[in-house]
Amino acid sequence: MYKVENIKVLDEKKEFIQKIFRLFDSKEDLNKSLLGTGYSGSVWKISDKLCLKVRPMTYYTEIPENFKKCENLCVPLKTFISQSGKYIGFVQKYLNLQNLEYLIKNEIKLSEKQAANVLCDILKGLKVIHENGYVHRDFHPGNIMLTTKDRNVMAAIIDFDEMKCTTPETRACFQYNGYQAPEIVFNNDIYNDKSEMFTMGIILWELIQGKCPFGGYNFFGKVVEESWDKYTQNREFYNDRVKVALMTLPNYLGKTEGISDECASLLRLLLDFNRANRITAKEALKHPFFRRSLENEYQNKTEYGINNKNIIYMSERE
Ligand SMILES: Nc1ncnc2c1ncn2[C@@H]1O[C@H](COP(=O)(O)OP(=O)(O)O)[C@@H](O)[C@H]1O
Ligand SMILES: [Mg+2]
Repeated sequence: MYKVENIKVLDEKKEFIQKIFRLFDSKEDLNKSLLGTGYSGSVWKISDKLCLKVRPMTYYTEIPENFKKCENLCVPLKTFISQSGKYIGFVQKYLNLQNLEYLIKNEIKLSEKQAANVLCDILKGLKVIHENGYVHRDFHPGNIMLTTKDRNVMAAIIDFDEMKCTTPETRACFQYNGYQAPEIVFNNDIYNDKSEMFTMGIILWELIQGKCPFGGYNFFGKVVEESWDKYTQNREFYNDRVKVALMTLPNYLGKTEGISDECASLLRLLLDFNRANRITAKEALKHPFFRRSLENEYQNKTEYGINNKNIIYMSERE
């Protein structure tokens, strides 16, 4: 009985995907076009321009129309619901490089200039989300993807499934994921735009240093990837590790050798324990850290060209 139900569900999902593929005249072979799977969804390539995310239709967040105008937000362009209402499908822009978690996992460090460009793109996206009164809530390197744009690399935020309006009731999706701010990790307090700016700080640290000693991939993503069961059976142990690591943050902020003064200053403003003092996305975009990279556009283009060894490596995906 169970097996029969299972096959039926799979069939319905497949038919749903095939229907959308036909609607967009896809030349892709469905069996070979799976791009990735995450916590809830699977993503298939429709063409060099589009992809399709399908997940169970258990919840749905309406995304403001104006988000489509921001190229750093990879939001659904068209949304479909399967006949029985079991599945929801989002057609979105296809991004042809890896996500930032791939860089971090493979210890591919970016230069400060490269990091500034990537960060600037992410902040432009976050600014739109926050200024419209929303929080992404599933903001981590796995949900930030890179793509080529006119022989340069551009970053875009993906996966808006958990996005919510910011209200006094808004809480984090996961209290412990290695990227959460102190107010979440220690108090499970209201989750707001400033909580996401702290995450931005950990991501910047990981991008330029390879790993972050007080948070990030090593404290959650890596553990979960090794074994979800191991994590769930020792949840308290791993969650406590996140807390203890976060407590050491002030020591590291005090000694940022090998990092420019501008970058260290931005890190301090993003990683302030007190969220009232933390910088917003709009303010961060005006920080001197970005001046170098934005003013010297031509030089950046060369550095960001797809000739860059890391970028070629990153583009080797199915
Ligand atoms: N726009 C896209 N272009 C190319 N690949 C994508 C795109 N969106 C998602 N993916 C791939 O699918 C994976 C899962 O997508 P995501 O939306 O994060 O699903 P989940 O909600 O399950 O986490 C991503 O990590 C990435 O590898
Ligand atoms: Mg995701």
